[in-house]
Amino acid sequence: MTQYSASHPDPMFRKTLRSIRGRDYEQGFSLPGTFYTDPTWTQTECDELFLRDWFCVGRVEEVGKPGDFFSFDHVGQPILVVHGHDGVIRALANVCRHRGTVVASGSGNTRKFLCPYHHWAYDTTGQLLNAPHMESHQAFDIKNCRLKELSSETWQGFIFVNLNPRPANLKKELAPLEKIIRNYHLEEMSLRYLADEVWDTNWKCLLENFMEGYHLTPLHRDTLHKVNPSRLCSHLKPGKRHFGYSVGFTSRLPDDRIGHPDLSEQEMDTCVMFAMPPGLTVGIGSDYSSFLCLRPLSPSRVSVKLGLIFHGDHWSQQEVDNAIELFQHTMEEDKQVLLRVQQGLGSRFHQPGPLASRDLEGTIWDFYQYLSRNLGAVKKVVKS
Ligand code: FES
Ligand SMILES: [Fe+2]
Repeated sequence: MTQYSASHPDPMFRKTLRSIRGRDYEQGFSLPGTFYTDPTWTQTECDELFLRDWFCVGRVEEVGKPGDFFSFDHVGQPILVVHGHDGVIRALANVCRHRGTVVASGSGNTRKFLCPYHHWAYDTTGQLLNAPHMESHQAFDIKNCRLKELSSETWQGFIFVNLNPRPANLKKELAPLEKIIRNYHLEEMSLRYLADEVWDTNWKCLLENFMEGYHLTPLHRDTLHKVNPSRLCSHLKPGKRHFGYSVGFTSRLPDDRIGHPDLSEQEMDTCVMFAMPPGLTVGIGSDYSSFLCLRPLSPSRVSVKLGLIFHGDHWSQQEVDNAIELFQHTMEEDKQVLLRVQQGLGSRFHQPGPLASRDLEGTIWDFYQYLSRNLGAVKKVVKS
């Protein structure tokens, strides 16, 4: 069990989260600003959420062919995702079994990974192939040496990784969400836009922003409001592993949109916005969908992989470009306002404010309930 000194702020944060557990949406208030600015709390979130729970790292298409790989740092853990020449997509600890150097960098396609330090070579399954001049070592066998394999799963075309040695059953826990979104067939949508960015805001602010429809009309008046206004938002019942809302389209939308044939007329006319905390948010439309994979870099910085995936192959480049432009425009509006949010949360005069109705900001309350369930437990305090 983690132990803290009496002066550590951690117990206070946990107590606040316990105090909101199970309370009604109508009693919802935002969290105190320190939840978004305190470095020790961010570290707790990294340790107990991002390093313990399933997190999304991107789309299967990013490693579509044998040899395709990408590497990244997940809150201090170097990780490599690779489509092995045996046909299996794996997540590996990107840490050389010799003296610990990060082996692969960036992304690409390869037959083997060569550690830059002493040229130990690994195949695309992580197995060590060659270790120069190591024959004389008596307790070392190349055949028994490989990059450590991490738990990974694919679901709806997304790749998930978990560093916990005993991970929860992801697919079982996502079954209630799958019921809601299965007809959109995200796993069949194709990736046409991908970007890696760093936003100057707390990771929770970004997740909350993507997951509430209250701001669609006021903040995105010239963009999203025209198609998905706040008044058409409806809260969805949350599950253990997800929360979300749906939003309808205005009648001003052209009615030539296309989606998967499994979709009902009502589904065709509805966007489903869901979060799978801690790090994935998805905005599903019948014709195309957007997603963000995020992870904290510090209390006020978040790394985010943004993508757009499209249904069908009828899209002209111009149509794809128009969708990308709308997405970038709305993301820029969000990015700018989140700078101001982060600034305000750091003010000594910030106080928790009341949340709007369940349809508009109930998802924020669902997110806090997730935090409460996962971080609200009492930890032992060491008197100092
Ligand atoms: S640390 Fe990788 S080969 Fe030496
Ligand atoms: Fe937004």
